Amino acid sequence: TGRVQLSFVPSDRAVRVPPGVTVFDAASWNGIAIDSTCGGHGTCKKCKVRVLAGSVAPSRLDIRSFSPEQLRAGWRLACLAQATQDLRVEVPPLTTRPKAATVGVGRQVILRPAVQKRYVELAEPTLADQRPDLTRLLDAIDDLDPQPDLHALRRLPTVLRAGDYRVTAVIVDEALVDVEPGDTTDRRFAIAFDLGTTTVVATLLDLGTGTPLAVHSMLNRQQPFGGDVITRISATMLDPDALDRLRAAAHATLAELTAGVCAEAEVDPTEVYEVAVAGNATMTALVLGIDPEPLGVAPFVMSCSTPPVVLASDLGVPVHPRGRALLFPALGAYVGGDIVAGMLATGMDRDKRLRLFIDVGTNCEIVLSDGRQILATAAPAGPAFEGGAIRCGMRAAEGAIEVVRVGEDVELQVIGDVAPAGLCGSGLVDAVAELVKAGLLDATGRFVTDEVAAETAPALAERLTRVGEERVFVLHRPEGVTDPAHTVYLSQRDVRELQFAKAAIATGWSLLLEELEVEPGDVQQVLLAGSFGSYLSPASAVRIGLVPDLSVLRILSAGNVAGEGAKMVLLSHRERAGAATLLEEVRYVELSDRADFNDKFVDQLAFPG
Ligand code: FES
Repeated sequence: TGRVQLSFVPSDRAVRVPPGVTVFDAASWNGIAIDSTCGGHGTCKKCKVRVLAGSVAPSRLDIRSFSPEQLRAGWRLACLAQATQDLRVEVPPLTTRPKAATVGVGRQVILRPAVQKRYVELAEPTLADQRPDLTRLLDAIDDLDPQPDLHALRRLPTVLRAGDYRVTAVIVDEALVDVEPGDTTDRRFAIAFDLGTTTVVATLLDLGTGTPLAVHSMLNRQQPFGGDVITRISATMLDPDALDRLRAAAHATLAELTAGVCAEAEVDPTEVYEVAVAGNATMTALVLGIDPEPLGVAPFVMSCSTPPVVLASDLGVPVHPRGRALLFPALGAYVGGDIVAGMLATGMDRDKRLRLFIDVGTNCEIVLSDGRQILATAAPAGPAFEGGAIRCGMRAAEGAIEVVRVGEDVELQVIGDVAPAGLCGSGLVDAVAELVKAGLLDATGRFVTDEVAAETAPALAERLTRVGEERVFVLHRPEGVTDPAHTVYLSQRDVRELQFAKAAIATGWSLLLEELEVEPGDVQQVLLAGSFGSYLSPASAVRIGLVPDLSVLRILSAGNVAGEGAKMVLLSHRERAGAATLLEEVRYVELSDRADFNDKFVDQLAFPG
């Protein structure tokens, strides 16, 4: 995809955007503030910039707003100036300081929420001034020109009179959704949801300041239908009622979280006017009550890529009755809205570095971008990272070993500081990486013989034993336990499971690197994302070959980036356009029909070095 480059003075920053994006959007997406009170709608005429190099044809409004000399000197309104070629643009100093918030991986978002409030003091009607209530209100906010909705109209006569004609108009995305008595302009809230298959996280945001006020998380109530998307899709195929029940379970989860964050921050749920939901394609379908079956069977087709804007109440979220819900668009059945949100939050399209984004999970999504091209793929890593198919595996809950260090002895870090009960994904990766380092696992993933163990790591050799026929390494032996079967151990089969999982991922990124004709060593940053990936130790990820062999400084835990992306679209409606643009630019690379997949996969099974 061809992109055009915009460089801004005096900030001296350059960004690459798809042709046709306005100068205002390009600047805004990159945290460069341009004066505006209308938010880029072509009505305030404050967004004056000067095009110093390259050219932009003047719009009609430009011709009306500037003198012929100014036009010749390159002055344009930024929100109307579409960049169709490389431009150098001067941005005059701001007359009003825009508020911004840092979100995602160092992303500066200029606050421009779709939810706006305007306090007005209206003249009371008289026989000489019988303007209808609505006209009276709209006349006072004519720069916003919102469309009234029925809910607002029903409330208007009463609220105007009860509030002595001092009221606050609530506007969401150009619709007048409510009027509130008095000045409520500092009460504007929204909730960002990361609707994960396992865990759901809600963040209550103050839209006036961009500050998160409360964050709650809980297990998805769909859990009883199965741990991953495939089992939940199967549930809907086996039982005609399951879709309704899954939808209800998702709604109940969102409702419980909503109540929790609102109570904690002492926000009335009706003061929440918008929510955003980032979820994978299956979670998105289920929360909307759309049959997910086509997502689960070849050729893996979504019902729609960009879900319509719905009411929060359609998702069972009890906020303002006219509150909107935005669901992230998806790239495909296996690269869903959560990943699009993650790409937004990590700025995958706005960085010239060669960056790799890996969301590690049962289905692992991988994105590679060099700032010009963005490639994405999905690799079926299987349940190993969630503790599934692992002998002593468990979810990352209390009692799970999450960190393993093998030196003279074995050191464990356990979630909740209790006695170890099992091994979660990050602990599994650590255990294998450390045993490779200690020389107890060879490069092919096999435990060394007892003789070799006695020589290379005498202090640890007695931990290498057998459960049944299988060789195991004992990580934790509870007091008084002699039978290794009752310890927490890592088995030979577990190591194999992890090898399969990491080989699927490594095959994914190595094929993407090939597509861009670059080498693993060229990667400048790896972002490990998702509720699992963020907890991985970068050093262990390198040691087992799950990520390219790079300095650990280049490997970043990106955190819950899906939730961060959801925050961004609430804080700025320009970012919504950013998400849509992103989607058009990403190229999906299908791995399963590649002839060389299997060979590559086999190559990736071994541990590097
Ligand atoms: Fe208001 Fe351009 S931003 S006219």
